[in-house]
Amino acid sequence: MRLFTAIELNDEVKAALRKAQRSLAAFDRAVRWVTSDQMHLTLKFLGEVPDASAGEVSAATGRIAQASSGFELVVGGCGCFPPKGRVRVVWVGVDEPSGALTACNELCESQYAQIGFAREHRAFSPHLTLGRVRDDKTGGRLRDAVADFEVGPHRHSVADLCVVRSTLTPGEAEYAVVSRHPLGGA
Ligand code: 2AM
Repeated sequence: MRLFTAIELNDEVKAALRKAQRSLAAFDRAVRWVTSDQMHLTLKFLGEVPDASAGEVSAATGRIAQASSGFELVVGGCGCFPPKGRVRVVWVGVDEPSGALTACNELCESQYAQIGFAREHRAFSPHLTLGRVRDDKTGGRLRDAVADFEVGPHRHSVADLCVVRSTLTPGEAEYAVVSRHPLGGA
């Protein structure tokens, strides 16, 4: 099964993301916007995992969560991946000034490495995907519109981590929470 570890978002943040999508509705034909059910913050993409290893992933996630203290995300700002050229992803930014989110991501990398998952070599770039673009033919207009657009700030207290299963369907990915792990006290 295809798994990733994520932080779920509260209704206020999801509403702000929906509003941002509506504000960029001029690009509805270019961008495949994510639905409210698909909105999350990815901490670690694990990829295809044998069914028999799913329990081990959940146990490792429990250890990561227990070793992390609760923290608050500040959601705001808007941008595109990649930073230049044709847009592939439109996102809203996430900041966590205390460093607890970065520490939690580092714990994910070390704990999952212990059970055989490759470490991510790219720097952790926390973001909330708003939409994906298959073939950007907007000639820079989408990028310019995103650059001009302001979201938030919205605050979001994080209480747990989730292991999420992604099922790829011809239309879009469907996500289902496999296990939820409360953050500990540090
Ligand atoms: P994204 O939002 O930046 O696209 C489930 O696919 C989640 O895992 C998505 O949020 C996606 O991030 C993230 N992810 C990270 N690396 C991925 C990869 N190599 N393939 C698919 N999804 C990936």
